[in-house]
Amino acid sequence: MRSFSLLLLFFILAAVGCSAAGDAGTAKTASRVRFDTGGLSREAFPAGFVFGTAASAYQVEGMALKDGRGPSIWDVFVKIPGEIANNATADVSVDEYHRYKEDVDIMKKMNFDAYRFSISWSRIFPNGAGKVNWEGVSYYNRLINYMLKKGVTPYANLYHYDLPEALEKQYNGLLSPKVVEAYADYADFCFKTFGDRVKNWFTFNEPRVVAALGYDDGTFAPGRCTNCSAGGNSATEPYIVAHNLILSHAAAVKRYREKYQAKQKGRIGILLDFVWYEALTSSTADQAAAQRARDFHVGWFLHPIIYGEYPKTIQEIVKERLPKFTEEEVKMVKGSIDYVGINQYTTYYMYDPHQPEPQKPTSYANDWHVGYAYERDGVPIGPRAHSNWLYIVPWGMYKAVSYVKEHYCNPTVILSENGMDDPGNITLPKGLHDTTRINYYKSYITELKKAIDDGANVIGYFAWSLLDNFEWKSGYTSRFGIVYVDFTNLKRYPKMSAYWFRDMLKRKN
Ligand SMILES: *[C@@H]1O[C@H](CO)[C@@H](O)[C@H](O)[C@H]1NC(C)=O
Ligand SMILES: *[C@@H]1O[C@H](CO)[C@@H](O)[C@H](O)[C@H]1NC(C)=O
Ligand SMILES: *[C@@H]1O[C@H](CO)[C@@H](O)[C@H](O)[C@H]1NC(C)=O
Repeated sequence: MRSFSLLLLFFILAAVGCSAAGDAGTAKTASRVRFDTGGLSREAFPAGFVFGTAASAYQVEGMALKDGRGPSIWDVFVKIPGEIANNATADVSVDEYHRYKEDVDIMKKMNFDAYRFSISWSRIFPNGAGKVNWEGVSYYNRLINYMLKKGVTPYANLYHYDLPEALEKQYNGLLSPKVVEAYADYADFCFKTFGDRVKNWFTFNEPRVVAALGYDDGTFAPGRCTNCSAGGNSATEPYIVAHNLILSHAAAVKRYREKYQAKQKGRIGILLDFVWYEALTSSTADQAAAQRARDFHVGWFLHPIIYGEYPKTIQEIVKERLPKFTEEEVKMVKGSIDYVGINQYTTYYMYDPHQPEPQKPTSYANDWHVGYAYERDGVPIGPRAHSNWLYIVPWGMYKAVSYVKEHYCNPTVILSENGMDDPGNITLPKGLHDTTRINYYKSYITELKKAIDDGANVIGYFAWSLLDNFEWKSGYTSRFGIVYVDFTNLKRYPKMSAYWFRDMLKRKN
């Protein structure tokens, strides 16, 4: 059987290679092929394991300034000339706002169980608080109801980089402790309004990226850092923002647990990005550097949530620049997850830079006091995807998931993002013919399964992403989808990797 499907696959590759089949031909042929799933199947995972795809509101919805939505900090940021590749915006993006039925239908067709989407705070509360935009509420009701009708389970994330601009203007947004109650009120409204149907919640996506890219190097909204034209202080603001994000998360979870969970019977957690950091050598100094990197990365958030305090390494290095939790806050933060989402894409080697401490200028990145390497003894850590940060290193998946198991009391984990990108200008036939992506998914999911077989408590997996979409700084020059989107007319074309998932996730009758 397998050699037969390989033969068919070879036939397609040949056909696409000479591009005679054209785009529609490729898609049709791929839809008829049975792909080699590398021994992976639904049955290879624990009962009830959930497979889905993930996306975020700003990246896919479009209608950014319509139907009553207020601007977020990203709507302001993308308008600054030169910030986004080709000065692109997400005003229209891939228009899921109008095309959600088609997108949910594709998920269904590819045998996915779930969709991790995000709710845009400023679509619900255009001013961050106060007046509700009921058109926005209706959109999410339509989306959720259609998913349920099709048997696709909603996993709703409440925040994906998109703070309402009104709160940035009023009190510097995440820099102010005022954001904690505003966020909890917004979350409360969502639990009350959607929680009869949404049973899986996340408070924040990648709070580390929010704090580091928004306030340490200034490459993401609101673009603050030491020396940034928007102002900022890379030595202190990332830590203040992270602290307020943790408190906002915990305050929302408290609301959910006190007011809704018993009745609605759902679960709530947070989504954390985690690059695996492998020590470059077995030297004590390099091992310690890799450990610092893990602490400053995932530990910054997961350590307080599991243990009620920041990692010791961070406390010792950041000292008085690190905000402190009061006793009351520790009670609220500690244990504030039912599960944790881990976004895992890549792996780097870490070494000790053997420089006098502390590195200058003082900043979150320099506080790590590490060096990055992408090869060892002349051997690259892995091939690079299109994005310059994304090295393809499947074994890092195993190590990252096992690390969370071993260091954080084997929490319930959802592997909440994983994927790779092609360049935005890849042609449609080449884009559909994404064998590198198929191999990426096959090898990473195999490593995830190994970690589960070795005892990691992982209950779900989400590929990033269903569609090519607006990739933040990269605009439309980076394609992470398993479905190709022609950005000129927004037509969707499933890539071979989408059909690979369809076959891997086939249900036995
Ligand atoms: C972005 O906009 C600025 C200002 O209008 C312009 O100078 C620049 O050339 C634009 N960049 C691209 C790639 O179009
Ligand atoms: C800020 O600019 C000053 C003067 O150009 C420079 O010495 C300093 O290193 C810069 N700081 C950062 C964090 O880039
Ligand atoms: C895509 O863009 C890159 C960089 O600008 C260029 O080198 C490459 O030739 C382009 N590829 C296609 C297929 O147009």
